[in-house]
Amino acid sequence: MVTASAPGKFILFGEHAVVYGKTAVAVAMDRRFACSVAYSDENTLNGKPVSFEKHPYIYHMLQKHGMDNTAVDTVSDIPAGSGLGSSAALSVSFSAAIRALKGMSTEEKDIAEDAFDTEYSVQGRASPADTSTCTHGSGISINGPGNGGLWSISRNGNVWHIADAYVPEMTIVVGHTGIHAATGPLVERVRKFRDKNGFAYDIVNEIGDIALHGIDLMRKNDITGIGELMTKNHKLLSILGVSCSELNKLVNAALPYSYGAKLTGAGGGGSMIALTDEPDKVCEAISKHGGTPFVVKTAQPGVVIKNI
Ligand code: PMV
Repeated sequence: MVTASAPGKFILFGEHAVVYGKTAVAVAMDRRFACSVAYSDENTLNGKPVSFEKHPYIYHMLQKHGMDNTAVDTVSDIPAGSGLGSSAALSVSFSAAIRALKGMSTEEKDIAEDAFDTEYSVQGRASPADTSTCTHGSGISINGPGNGGLWSISRNGNVWHIADAYVPEMTIVVGHTGIHAATGPLVERVRKFRDKNGFAYDIVNEIGDIALHGIDLMRKNDITGIGELMTKNHKLLSILGVSCSELNKLVNAALPYSYGAKLTGAGGGGSMIALTDEPDKVCEAISKHGGTPFVVKTAQPGVVIKNI
């Protein structure tokens, strides 16, 4: 049996824009998804048969690796459909475990590529931001300045250069709306808006510019500046139509005690993040407005594989 685990993540800057090859920054957090795989008589997930409708990521991975005899068991403390990378952490931990079981390469680049392929196939359009962060851990820039770094992935005319990003010490509170929002339809909504509307096209570019500026401020440990940019990023995402009243409520509740706040991930529900020195006050404000808060530790390790 092989067990692998991968961290969840939050996107600090650049979600949606990164799908079009713009810049983004994402950070691994201290909630993880673990996946165990062992040879068996048939494909099962947590003791039940695997179906494409219910388990598209696992189903796709099993098909891709030509497996029809694998028992898969999963455990996670990343809320599903929350914008915190649960599907990416699933794809990464599964890829790592199955590759180790089969004696294939378990280099980060190969796992990240494999997991991205699954996200892309299941979600339709996607960027490798989530899967790369869940693989490498720590902080990741995608198409940051200088580009150089870990690996590059291309698809559909876009190229994403993945590099290690310096992450300053930050206290981040996550506020989960409790609303499950699938990434694929939100990405598709932005694609349609951007394709037919020059204004939306410019907003997407502006989000990429914010992420570039954000990387510079992170290097300078400019917490105030980072917070301001987060709030600006949220406003632009709202204009793109991927926020919702619950997310806006939590962002507004957190702002009086925060340097900045924004939705994180695909939006439409899911979660927001706040950068703060007053985590207790932010948690209280989020709870009061119907969200579930938790403080996250940043810059966590990436994928970890154990042969048992
Ligand atoms: O909500 P999540 O964790 O699936 O993040 C999605 C991030 C997007 O930029 C909206 C899509 C992507 O593939 O990068």
